[in-house]
Amino acid sequence: MTALSLPSLATDLSKAQPELQITGGRRLEGELRVDGAKNSALVLMAACLLTRDQIRLRNVPPLTDIVGMGEMLQSLGGQVSREANSLVLDGSGIHSTTAPYELVNSLRASFFCIGPLLARMGMAKVPLPGGCKIGTRPVEEHVKGLKALGAQVTIEHGVVTAVVPGRGQRLRGGRIYFDCPSVGATETLMMAAVLAEGETVMANAAQEPEVADLAGLLIAMGARIRGAGTQTITITGVERLHGADYAVIPDRIEAGTLLLAAAITRSRLRVTPVITDHLGAVLTKLEAAGCRLEHDGVGMTIEASDIQAVDLRTQPFPAFPTDLQAPFMSLLATARGTSVVTENIFENRMQHVAELQRMGAAIRLQSNIAFIEGVAQLSGAPVQGTDLRASAAMVLAGLAAEGVTSVRGLEYLDRGYAGLEHKLASVGACIQRIGGGPAPAERDLLTQGSSAA
Ligand code: UD1
Repeated sequence: MTALSLPSLATDLSKAQPELQITGGRRLEGELRVDGAKNSALVLMAACLLTRDQIRLRNVPPLTDIVGMGEMLQSLGGQVSREANSLVLDGSGIHSTTAPYELVNSLRASFFCIGPLLARMGMAKVPLPGGCKIGTRPVEEHVKGLKALGAQVTIEHGVVTAVVPGRGQRLRGGRIYFDCPSVGATETLMMAAVLAEGETVMANAAQEPEVADLAGLLIAMGARIRGAGTQTITITGVERLHGADYAVIPDRIEAGTLLLAAAITRSRLRVTPVITDHLGAVLTKLEAAGCRLEHDGVGMTIEASDIQAVDLRTQPFPAFPTDLQAPFMSLLATARGTSVVTENIFENRMQHVAELQRMGAAIRLQSNIAFIEGVAQLSGAPVQGTDLRASAAMVLAGLAAEGVTSVRGLEYLDRGYAGLEHKLASVGACIQRIGGGPAPAERDLLTQGSSAA
């Protein structure tokens, strides 16, 4: 009896889960557009809590994570509406300083709210975001920095409560040294320090382009910031910030993924816009693998034929980004020779290895180091994306594999790539979404003009 019921359960489950079906082996040709950066847009949205005035953010990608951050701002009393590619954010009605657990739990980035809420409202209560699939992801650097700015911080029952002592007082500038250059901590503390009294100096700060983008918005709002994008950031606090109209930078991780789509299919594509400074290490590794790259001032044309093995180690910017480690590994699985990939940022970011092995990749994993012996041909298989970038890696592998690959775990993919299957199909890939209705990003676009960003 049990033996009979198991297959029918499996059939039911497979019906319920949407998947991408890819028939590999097609050459790609044409041009692909890169959306605005998810990781920038999320933190820029949180920055709207710093002012009562309206902020217009342009070039915001239609992603489920953006919808989640919109819900977080709305739960605090903010208003968020989408107009085509722009979000209009209004923080005049903020009435709550408590972030709901469910929202922080489903979107880690909503922890960003702690910095601006504390700076403007004098208090913030935000649940600890906890770990995620790729690692434990602590927030002690954020907490240490808030204390250095004069906040009293307690952590009880899984909730971080930060308070500026004394009624009507502001945070005060201070010296912050990061033991590790955390992107999230640097951004959280920048948003806290812009409204503090006096000067804040952050040493060993994260230098990622998204940090510089946040500084760009804050400066447009009237903040005084020097050095964002370098290891030392100096902020002179101001009493208030005002509204702004600001365009988010292009998504360097999406750009890298699309360039890799060309490389893994041995094709020629133009990907635009690409800011070369944002992708330096990735472009260098693509060239070392044998790709020809040409930047025309806006977009990057990539042409690939023979791909050689290359070694890479993930490190904070400007070194090779952890977010492109899994997608690049798919390419290396098809290269000539043996590559060594070392993951130094997140302790559990090698889960795609087992899935690539199921597609015929020859990879040996020793803790955080993968030894990848390129094979002549990957073979299509049902695979599971285990996190956002691992899902993208599966899609890339599917483009190159012989036969049909079905990629599950689209709830991850949809967090960071808007309409990836449509983009790839437009340049010749054979890829379609099966089950589950339209992608969430498309549903989000359908709600244009409503307040549900
Ligand atoms: C951001 C990005 C994420 C990217 C990551 C690293 C967003 C929304 N997400 O995540 O896509 O993969 O940067 O480039 O922008 N750490 C500590 N203590 C802390 C904070 C961090 O030890 O208090 C460690 C982390 O465990 C990790 C490393 O620092 O090993 C980098 O983490 P961090 O830069 O904070 O990543 P996020 O900001 O969470």
